[in-house]
Amino acid sequence: MQQTKYLLGEDRIPTHWYNVIADLPAPPAPVLHPATGEPVTPADMLPLFPPALLEQEMSSARWIPIPEEIRQIYALWRPSPLFRARRLEQALGTPARIYYKYEGVSPAGSHKPNTAVPQAYYNKLAGTKRIATETGAGQWGSSMALASRMFGLECTVYMVRVSFTQKPYRKSMMELWGAEVVPSPSPRTAAGRAILAQDPDSPGSLGIAISEAVEDAVAREDTKYALGSVLNHVCLHQTVIGLEAKEQLALAGDYPDVVIAAHGGGSNFAGVGFPFIADKAAGKQIRILAVEPSSCPTLTKGVYAFDYGDTAKMAPITKMYTLGHDFMPPGIHAGGLRYHGASPLVSQLVHHGLVEARAVGQLACFEAATLFARTEAIIPAPESSHAIRGAVDEALRAKEEGKERVILFNLSGHGHVDMAAYDAYFAGQLEDFEYPAEKVAASLANLPKVKL
Ligand SMILES: Cc1ncc(COP(=O)(O)O)c(C=O)c1O
Repeated sequence: MQQTKYLLGEDRIPTHWYNVIADLPAPPAPVLHPATGEPVTPADMLPLFPPALLEQEMSSARWIPIPEEIRQIYALWRPSPLFRARRLEQALGTPARIYYKYEGVSPAGSHKPNTAVPQAYYNKLAGTKRIATETGAGQWGSSMALASRMFGLECTVYMVRVSFTQKPYRKSMMELWGAEVVPSPSPRTAAGRAILAQDPDSPGSLGIAISEAVEDAVAREDTKYALGSVLNHVCLHQTVIGLEAKEQLALAGDYPDVVIAAHGGGSNFAGVGFPFIADKAAGKQIRILAVEPSSCPTLTKGVYAFDYGDTAKMAPITKMYTLGHDFMPPGIHAGGLRYHGASPLVSQLVHHGLVEARAVGQLACFEAATLFARTEAIIPAPESSHAIRGAVDEALRAKEEGKERVILFNLSGHGHVDMAAYDAYFAGQLEDFEYPAEKVAASLANLPKVKL
């Protein structure tokens, strides 16, 4: 029998997270205070995050130990399986060997609990009673809801309104795990009220939902904020994906020529990609590719500049690829990829040419996801379909060139709660949005002026 799955025992759950900052070609740019434009201090950030997470955010240590309590919870679904996509290879007629790491086996159905669990853990240690957070597609909100439940924390999730409407079952999951879910923009915060005053039918965006959650957290002594992507400590926690994948590929006797992941804020991409940056820094020939939606093309069409992480300018200013903090991406079904900015670490790696980026339209992604479901059987999340599109294109190129190529991609989540998106695709109701050049230009005119 040909081997399909490469599995590791629970004893192989990584003991340390990998911190890519140790291998960057230059130190990361400073993070600036949204009100003063001066570099932030840990004290500025303490109303938002517990001390241990701030320490991780700023650490340059290559390896950071994973507490046993967290590994014990990771054991509910980790190590996640690595699959060889033999049926997809066959359907494509490619000489490439395609592997995918499957993060949809977590209780929430995606990679997001890899960081939700440590975030809840360190908050609990610091005496936090309640978490305020945002969610786009609902994957992050459901992950934070379940992690909060595990540590006895209350949780309020501001959910981007377009997803709140498109994905009612994500709301049900969050409520089942005990969280409160508020459609964003909401009348509950000044940030939400300001947006609603301009547009009572606003579909919302991650940038707006982040503003609401930050405002909520800052207003209450017992509450901290949690973010599901973008930040260094979030990318750090996700590296368990790539660390396991390396070991599993070694079991298969392979090493990737190219590593691919979907890119929203950067966390699943960082998770699978960063551990391979360490190899690249040590001289290995390997390509690492981020795939983003052409309707929200942050890495491929954005500028590398200082910008706010949220619409209401309450989150810190970071140097990143951005389309402008008030850019409102079209309401594509990959709700988790509708973010104006990107992880500063991923951005820096793109800027230095260590990471490539490509933008793809949603129809091409649904086409690839359908092929994947009909060959490999797993139904992918619309976000993850961007990685599949990237992998299929690489495999077809290998076929054209007649080259064997080893492709690894991260299947960041399943699409069981996204079936309305597939229904719309099959009903011919989905469209590819043109790159909204004018809206981006208008938004980029509002970048903050910084002294650096
Ligand atoms: C399944 C899935 N994949 C990918 C993403 C994109 O986020 P990130 O870039 O942080 O991995 C999301 C975000 O919600 C998601 O739900």
